[in-house]
Amino acid sequence: MAFNRAKNSVFYGCNFNDTGGSRTRIHGIDYLRESIVACALYNSKERFDPPKCHAETRVAVLESIMAWVDHRQRTSSIMWLHGPAGAGKSAIAQTIAETCAKAKTLCAAFFFSRTASERNSVDRLLPTLVYQIVLAIPSLEKLVTDAIEKDFTIFSLSFPEQLQRLIVNPLREAVEQKLLAENSPQLIIIDGLDECAGSDIQKSILSEISNALTVFNIPLCFLISSRPEQAIRQAFNTSCAQKLTARLALDNSFDPEKDIDTFVRSKFNEIKQTHQFRSYPPGWPTDDAIQTLVDRSSGQFVYASVVMKYLETISLQIRRGQENIISMKKCSTVISHSALYNIIAITWIMVK
Ligand SMILES: Nc1ncnc2c1ncn2[C@@H]1O[C@H](COP(=O)(O)OP(=O)(O)OP(=O)(O)O)[C@@H](O)[C@H]1O
Ligand SMILES: [Mg+2]
Repeated sequence: MAFNRAKNSVFYGCNFNDTGGSRTRIHGIDYLRESIVACALYNSKERFDPPKCHAETRVAVLESIMAWVDHRQRTSSIMWLHGPAGAGKSAIAQTIAETCAKAKTLCAAFFFSRTASERNSVDRLLPTLVYQIVLAIPSLEKLVTDAIEKDFTIFSLSFPEQLQRLIVNPLREAVEQKLLAENSPQLIIIDGLDECAGSDIQKSILSEISNALTVFNIPLCFLISSRPEQAIRQAFNTSCAQKLTARLALDNSFDPEKDIDTFVRSKFNEIKQTHQFRSYPPGWPTDDAIQTLVDRSSGQFVYASVVMKYLETISLQIRRGQENIISMKKCSTVISHSALYNIIAITWIMVK
């Protein structure tokens, strides 16, 4: 030290910089936590109250996904759940996430959203998944944080590079060192892959995941849901992905009309129970009215779901003494698919 032997020294107008000694250390786990998109988690407050399967609906679909999750010797490490807009994919993904979280078989989940700026890109997919994986499998924490602390630019690297360093390498090492419990969770859910910006990126996510599962045989399985967009179909049709993937189409083979009927009847019962003071006409709603609603849904839950939300709203308006707005018979039968949102908007204007 330069001032070791100095005595009675006085310094004027000087600035001293501390150039050594103890610096605040950045921990990999803190850096990881700061890099996640919390609103993409299955239980985030931003997504509350997320769409999920109403009781007694989608039973066969849920059972077949659960059987795949629970079968540790599964032949397909990826399950692709696909179907058109509003068919109910996210509701199924959410229900599976909640069920598996309770059963401690969920590793991680990411819910993409086209309209939410933080979760419509691949940018923070990996850190968000890895953070959850570390929570679900604590024996991976050191391996993952070591990788981060070795190179703090890691989250700026390409998707394949991050996948390799943050998931593949730690998992392979954990397997080699026998750090994984026999029942360690394996399920990763990626919902709405078509909502991630960039069809090339969507393809690359799928090909890199397929590669990691095939070449490195990592002990994970992926439930991926999306609309059957061309880029995604192409990616699933490559030979590597094809061998790994079980496909689950939300089409008529699962009899969605029966599920929609169950949902609609249950919602009408709720409305009647919530507004018991009203005297509903006997037999309301008629089977015909329910059938019309189910037919007009064309197998898509979104239609029935919006109509029932609308009816619940109208019930509240009726409660406030505005019974003349729209008759119950009209509510249950007249709404057509294309005019749905217009009618809701117009009715709102009328009731205000
Ligand atoms: N099994 C179900 N029970 C009750 N409501 C459901 C069910 N499935 C879907 N819904 C409702 O239907 C609407 C559309 O469902 P969801 O968002 O899951 O569709 P999606 O297939 O993910 O559509 P997109 O392709 O636009 O993402 C939601 O409001 C949801 O609450
Ligand atoms: Mg969805």
